[in-house]
Amino acid sequence: AGLDAAGGQPAAVPAAAPKAAEPLAIIYASESGNSEKLAGDVAKLARKSGFKPKVIDFADLDVASLAKEKRIVAIAATWGEGEPPARSVRAYNELMGEAAPRLDGAEFGVLALGDTSYAEFCAIGKALDARLEALGAKRAHERADLDLDFDKPAAEWIKGTLKALAPPASAADNVVAVDFARGASHDEDAEPSREPSVVEVVDHVNLNSSRSDKETIHLALAFEDGAPAYEPGDSLEIYPENDPQLVEEILKASGLTGDEALRRALLSERDITTLSATTVERFVKATGHAEAKRLIESGEVRAWIEGRHLIDLIETYPAALSAEHLNSITRPLPPRAYSIASSRKEVGDEVHLAIAAVRYETHGRARSGVASVHVADRIRNGAKLRVKLKPNRHFRLPQDPAADIIMVGPGTGVAPFRAFVQERRAVEAPGRSWLFFGDRHFTHDFLYQLEWQEALEDRSLTQIDVAFSRDQPEKIYVQDRLFERRRELVAWLDGGAYFYVCGDAKNMAKDVRASLVRAYADVKGLSEAGAEAAVAGLERSHRYQQDVY
Ligand code: 2AM
Repeated sequence: AGLDAAGGQPAAVPAAAPKAAEPLAIIYASESGNSEKLAGDVAKLARKSGFKPKVIDFADLDVASLAKEKRIVAIAATWGEGEPPARSVRAYNELMGEAAPRLDGAEFGVLALGDTSYAEFCAIGKALDARLEALGAKRAHERADLDLDFDKPAAEWIKGTLKALAPPASAADNVVAVDFARGASHDEDAEPSREPSVVEVVDHVNLNSSRSDKETIHLALAFEDGAPAYEPGDSLEIYPENDPQLVEEILKASGLTGDEALRRALLSERDITTLSATTVERFVKATGHAEAKRLIESGEVRAWIEGRHLIDLIETYPAALSAEHLNSITRPLPPRAYSIASSRKEVGDEVHLAIAAVRYETHGRARSGVASVHVADRIRNGAKLRVKLKPNRHFRLPQDPAADIIMVGPGTGVAPFRAFVQERRAVEAPGRSWLFFGDRHFTHDFLYQLEWQEALEDRSLTQIDVAFSRDQPEKIYVQDRLFERRRELVAWLDGGAYFYVCGDAKNMAKDVRASLVRAYADVKGLSEAGAEAAVAGLERSHRYQQDVY
């Protein structure tokens, strides 16, 4: 029996009356779930450190209410070419706009997530950081701008920020130590294990015809000890390996012969493709290369790295590099996430994916997507892959199986909808389902065509509309089909249907949204603002969901 069991505390304990916990608003703008996960980490540590945390997705954020907060932690991902995550756009614009509230008297810290392989690294976090200060709030802790390998630095930043935000009396030491890197912060969550699992490839087929200029691999992966409890809408991360030929080229250009350990590291542990301004800076620091240094000083780095990779850097600026140099110049090889294309109710302990091989040429050199081409070229039936489940609770079938669903998924964007249809078939959902699919050519690129036909027959798919962009002189895209079908579309939505979009974030997802706004305006005779409000209403009620990349 401990002291507590004796009833009451010994008088010697400091007479600190239980203080009311300090409210802490944790707002996050997340696309793929990393910022959201970190917001959860902040909340957990904050609770243990005597705060009363409240976690708010930008999608649900009432910007005016921020005026009431005294402590704000903002975690923001930057997406694509320096944009906020899709479902954060509304609140982000409000916060940046004239109607934003004053935040005098509040303290804040901003954690920015990004990807150095894109031009505008952490742009959204940087903008938020400046904006909160401009609105009168006081920066309690310096912003951190983190790349894909954010686990450790994020844990450090969280600790530092909570210390800085703690009221003077209770300060610092109340912030308990949690070993995030080892996943201890997740012990209370029903989250999947943070270690990757090894799976076996049991199916590997090209979904495009051999005459297509595209190659999309249908991959079935078997989990020996049972598939993790994934839901339709979730993604699976693949830990890829680099192209062995690129490893050899890097070794050669570095003047290294390369022992086995170094080869292995370059093959499966380091990102030997991405070239960012940071990579160039690290390269100059490691080698002292005078010409590369001049490139930085000239202010031309951003332009020069465009379309180039690490190999271009070390071939253009030859220097003798050691294994340690290569290690310090590169970042860890990040896993790549793919939307799951199957339902466990139909495929048991397997996970299916549809992965488009990314190949292109820049600066006279053939380039390839690390994970997609690893899967397409170097993986076959019987091979093993390391994978990890990445849940996405913002892309989910309606709770009510009687609700109708509208799915817009051109190209590999169709993947999660195969999972949706399988799931709804398995549970015999009474709701109707409508798929909009698009790709280049009907004869070469109609992904899962036979399965859609079967689904139409067994009624797990009610109807399908297709847009083959290159089968006629003018381009026809899924958003054109949506507009053509606008009356029925709006009727479904008025009846409570859910609207899902998956695929390209840069153009397609925006065009689809714009098309839906036009559809509302036309069918209901609304002004542009009225139609915009109708679509924003769908988003706010989570009946408009996106999984875009
Ligand atoms: P395209 O390549 O002929 O331009 C899947 O990649 C399909 O999406 C292709 O048919 C592609 O057409 C099409 N696509 C390209 N840009 C798009 C956009 N902005 N909106 C919708 N579909 C688009």
